[in-house]
Amino acid sequence: MKVDGTPYRTIWLGADGRTVQAIDQTLLPHRFVVRDFRTVEDAERAIRTMVVRGAPLIGAAAAYGMALAMATDPSDAMLARAHALLLASRPTAVNLRWALDDLRALLAPLPSAARREAAYRRAAEICDEDAEICRRIGEHGLGEIRRLKPRQGERLNALTHCNAGWLATVDWGTALAPIYQAHDAGIPIHVWVDETRPRNQGASLTAWELGKHGVPHTVIADNAGGHLMQHGKVDFCIVGTDRTTRRGDVCNKIGTYLKALAARDNGVPFYVGLPYPTIDWTIEDGHREIPIEERHAAELSRISGRTESGEVVAVDVLPEGSPAANPAFDVTPARLVTALITERGVCPASEAGLLSLYPEQARAA
Ligand code: MRU
Repeated sequence: MKVDGTPYRTIWLGADGRTVQAIDQTLLPHRFVVRDFRTVEDAERAIRTMVVRGAPLIGAAAAYGMALAMATDPSDAMLARAHALLLASRPTAVNLRWALDDLRALLAPLPSAARREAAYRRAAEICDEDAEICRRIGEHGLGEIRRLKPRQGERLNALTHCNAGWLATVDWGTALAPIYQAHDAGIPIHVWVDETRPRNQGASLTAWELGKHGVPHTVIADNAGGHLMQHGKVDFCIVGTDRTTRRGDVCNKIGTYLKALAARDNGVPFYVGLPYPTIDWTIEDGHREIPIEERHAAELSRISGRTESGEVVAVDVLPEGSPAANPAFDVTPARLVTALITERGVCPASEAGLLSLYPEQARAA
């Protein structure tokens, strides 16, 4: 996607062929800064502190983290250490484990002298593949959007939660890819953007990237969606996911479940865009089996923003001594999801639905 006319991906290999570069998402929308990662520790820190975030991008960053580890030391010990270090950086998005297992399976049988080049090549492939997968999610989602009719007026109103746009992936996004393609195809579309407390990925990232692409949008408080749905102002919801189970339960940013409940109560279709590495075929019950990341209470108790003079400051919003809890994700049961939109097509959120697109994942009888 373009930023002020210049095409960008979220992560790429630097000109020296070793350093990895990525957009620092903790500084948006106020500052556009590119960070360098030179070691596996740099990559791990960037994932943990959410310099890079969003399930597919976490996977891509982890793949490059393995390449950085191999550039430092291509030994078996380093391979095991880098895998363990990166895997512990964030617990919920399964793309992280998918990418790390992929790299380890590729590198382990190779002689150590061949590992560095193979790791960089595979990390670059994962990035290219993610961009293409997301473009295809956009195409399939566009097919769904073309079937929807506005409830009011001339334009379709979408509602999205968190950031599942190009910043959350390598390019295009998952939930936002269909929106970009609809907009580019001339379909009048407007997006209600949940601010997504506590880290405000909607207000800071989704609004920023939609604005850069010229997509009409309005940021709303997280609790406004149900009210808008009751008043016919939302034609469909579309979100991304950090892990979707074999039977179609969808884990995504905290608050997604409440939007799905409100959508069901108001007859609003609720779509989830996802690439295949986000499907965890090893589990079924998302509510019981997905580890939900608990982040620091300070993300809730302090908010940051830009003052009129342009300075970015953080302020406390809680009374001194009040504890805060910060679960970062929740699980929307498959029954509340209208359809899953993947790179292979659109399917019901169920094991049968997913297997109709991924028959190779059927369990041996
Ligand atoms: O905590 P984050 O910002 O990494 O959470 C991101 C989300 O929940 C996204 O909606 C999800 O990763 C899908 S991204 C394409």
